[in-house]
Amino acid sequence: MREPSFSPPPALNGLPAPIALELLAAVPRRASRRSFNGEPVPEGRLDALEQLATGWRPWAEARCSVVREAPQSLFMGIVGTYGGVAGAPSALAFVGTDDAAAAVGYTGEALVLRATALGLSTCWLAGVFSPQAARRLTPLASEERVFAVSALGFAVESTTAKERVLSASARSSRRRPLEDIAPGHGSWPAWARAAVETARLAPSAMNRLPWRFSYLDGDLVVTAEGAELPRAATRLDCGIAMFHAELGAYGEGVTGTWRWRPKPEVAVFTPGYV
Ligand SMILES: Cc1cc2nc3c(=O)[nH]c(=O)nc-3n(C[C@H](O)[C@H](O)[C@H](O)COP(=O)(O)O)c2cc1C
Repeated sequence: MREPSFSPPPALNGLPAPIALELLAAVPRRASRRSFNGEPVPEGRLDALEQLATGWRPWAEARCSVVREAPQSLFMGIVGTYGGVAGAPSALAFVGTDDAAAAVGYTGEALVLRATALGLSTCWLAGVFSPQAARRLTPLASEERVFAVSALGFAVESTTAKERVLSASARSSRRRPLEDIAPGHGSWPAWARAAVETARLAPSAMNRLPWRFSYLDGDLVVTAEGAELPRAATRLDCGIAMFHAELGAYGEGVTGTWRWRPKPEVAVFTPGYV
């Protein structure tokens, strides 16, 4: 990832420049971890996450809640702990209205990257978590639901055998080539190429990278690919990729605005050159 060689725009969708730059720098350092050492997260770091979660709501219909003390039952799916997370003392809960999956992914990934920047490990979980436990920990408005959670804490120092099996089955280190997710990107402007390179590093359920970018009349269009997974994970994934793409563009000095698009498209980014 290139260091920005420019004076950064003052904000990325309302995120002040120092935070936006910090999140961009965290992208290559983030990796999902599933085995934690149980050590509590220092209050100051939870406060910093809380401040972002409450102070930055780019979409009214999506939000993130910091769960300071997360019981192990939060990380249990219907098949018990298989594939789940162990030893995480805290969590993030990603909340929104039914049709807000992409907005939830976008907002949540900012929190995940902020946690990475604060030296914490994370793992998005849309499959292996207990919605009942999440509801008990996060007061919800009647139209809201918890789409996913992330484990939050300090990972054990070396990856465990379970983590190696899971990341091999999820092909963490083998991502789809850029040409698959952004056909023709070689002829796009630098900001759009940086956007899709940064989106390629985004986490996604089962590492499917279920998004496709196209460059159309100066805009970047995000389309969802493949079947929808339970709990709307495909559109969550696309929202996560949108946030990464915007960070990548920001690293080239470009900010812009998103507009939602009907399915199977997700959203369109129009750069507003500054
Ligand atoms: C929306 C979403 C849902 C996920 N759900 C799960 C899950 O239920 N269980 C799990 O072990 N990992 C889950 N993951 C983590 C992915 O497997 C992981 O992000 C992917 O393999 C890429 O690896 P990386 O995050 O280390 O880059 C999820 C990731 C995302 C973005």
